[in-house]
Amino acid sequence: MQHRRRFTTALMAAALALAAPLAQAQAYPSKPITLVVPFAAGGPTDVVARTLGAVMARSLGQSVLIENKLGAGGTLAAGAVAKGTPDGYTFLIHHNGMATAPGLYRKLAYNPLTDFEYVGQVIDVPMTLLGRKDLPANTAAELFAWVKAQGNKANLAHAGLGAVSQLCGMLFQQAMGVEMGTIPYQGTAPALNALLGGQVDLLCDQTTQTLPHIKAGTVKLFGVTTRERIKSLPNVATLEEAGLKGFEVKVWHGIYAPKGTPAAAVDRFGAALRAALKDPTVVQRMAELGAEIVPEAKQTPEGLRSGLKPEIDKWGALIRAAGTYAD
Ligand code: MLT
Repeated sequence: MQHRRRFTTALMAAALALAAPLAQAQAYPSKPITLVVPFAAGGPTDVVARTLGAVMARSLGQSVLIENKLGAGGTLAAGAVAKGTPDGYTFLIHHNGMATAPGLYRKLAYNPLTDFEYVGQVIDVPMTLLGRKDLPANTAAELFAWVKAQGNKANLAHAGLGAVSQLCGMLFQQAMGVEMGTIPYQGTAPALNALLGGQVDLLCDQTTQTLPHIKAGTVKLFGVTTRERIKSLPNVATLEEAGLKGFEVKVWHGIYAPKGTPAAAVDRFGAALRAALKDPTVVQRMAELGAEIVPEAKQTPEGLRSGLKPEIDKWGALIRAAGTYAD
């Protein structure tokens, strides 16, 4: 009898031991998840994060809290997430800045290739080159002439060294052969406000933020930065068509987690991301913002990992050629 009781107790203990990790795994996520945005609220990266977060929360059964962690062109946020607790409750959404930072910051506190787990790529976004409404130029040709005549008296807003607005602005100055004054903000949301207020001359920014202002006519549009014309502004010439040979900046976004985040959490968050990218409200919103959801193969950890390395090499070479460093 006693023997049988001991046997039953041992059996129950074994069953509990087996069930414990399973219960933990099934319990994820058991609390809200933080998605870190490296730029200001209301800007292009923030808009994408909030659109996705709201839909992903439904399939995760937990809120996705957006944390705007600002500074140093996105590198402060990426560094904080790289050193964050790898427990499945912190993720980072970032754009090409993940690939430009190793070139721009020669003493970067993290390595994009070794300090993260990869969830997947999200969207591609074209950029637009905008001027303040009262800028004395109406066409790309007039703008180029004005910038060359103004030299360093003309200025350009951007979202910090490492932001795509800065990168686009750097390539534009290179193409003009002019070193303009540059004014950094903590995101292109405040930079666009400065442009709308006429405090700065030019801003290169993503359609996810600029389309409504272009349509409302509150800014001047001088061209799109992609190689091809874009669906959301089909009649607007590319900067390459306007004469800037080889000019191309396309923004892509990806989602990362601190290295060592459990695979089960990365998989679950990734599955919620991929489901959100098929959700009709997200599909419609991204189209309205001029953003293109990347093909399914890129929405995976492998899609992000294999996309990052060539981008680091490409931007590293361009940054070295420009000789513009953040340190
Ligand atoms: C950038 O310029 O890198 C982005 O537009 C930043 C942002 O999301 O504000």
